Amino acid sequence: MRLMGKNAVVTGAGRGIGKAVALKLAREGANTAVCDINPEEAERTCREIKEIGVKSFHRRTNVADREDVERLFQDFAEKLGDIDILVNNAGINRDSMLHKMTLEQWDEVIAVNLTGTFNCTQVAVRSMRERNSGRIINISSVSWLGNIGQANYAASKAGVVGLTKTAARELARKNITVNAICPGFISTDMTRGVPPKVWDIMVSKIPAGKAGEPEDVANLIAFLASDEAAYITGEVIGVGGGMVI
Ligand code: NAI
Repeated sequence: MRLMGKNAVVTGAGRGIGKAVALKLAREGANTAVCDINPEEAERTCREIKEIGVKSFHRRTNVADREDVERLFQDFAEKLGDIDILVNNAGINRDSMLHKMTLEQWDEVIAVNLTGTFNCTQVAVRSMRERNSGRIINISSVSWLGNIGQANYAASKAGVVGLTKTAARELARKNITVNAICPGFISTDMTRGVPPKVWDIMVSKIPAGKAGEPEDVANLIAFLASDEAAYITGEVIGVGGGMVI
């Protein structure tokens, strides 16, 4: 158990990658808070975490809403104490070709994926800076390199990479590491909604010959959150079965 006694929060932990991450951190011994815009799913994850035998609480939080985020971290301090690990996972897509994309589609994705990551990071580092210790792991995407139909999503995920690298530079002397993970094509509700034909095309581009599982991402996050990863910061690491080589 690499994270015994640590306190973590995972955003968007109600389902998918975030849920797998929260359960993995809990199995490694971390008390893990669940933040999600969907309270029912957050409650379910929280229950499963408690069954593992660590502390948890859940809070309906919209990461794009700064006041909501401030309240989340107040609750965190009261219920779990100081924060050691922040995983910025909450994310959405609103795909459309650039020439058809509405300003609402653009704004919504930037607000959750990029401003949400900024909000949680800025609030969490107050306590991490005071204690000269912390781990921040941001979920970007292979799409940050550009992807047809995803101008908003790619821009948000490229923004997450820039934010990660800047925060890593600013916080390294405080023993706070900040890294970004770029999942490739992972089997979750976000991807299972694509038509079977698109699914097959996506999988055909993966040298490993299959979609990844949320646990593939969670395993890397548990390592980056551990003491073993103390000298790794500002990195952008892919989990994609060779999708981008
Ligand atoms: P998902 O759609 O299955 O789960 C996302 C979770 O985030 C949901 O529980 C949702 O309620 C929550 N959420 C959405 N908006 C929120 C908000 N404003 N505040 C708080 N919570 C919110 O998605 P999935 O696939 O698990 O994705 C997780 C992360 O991984 C996202 O950032 C996504 O962009 C990224 N990613 C996923 C890939 C994939 O193939 N599934 C590939 C690359 C990146």
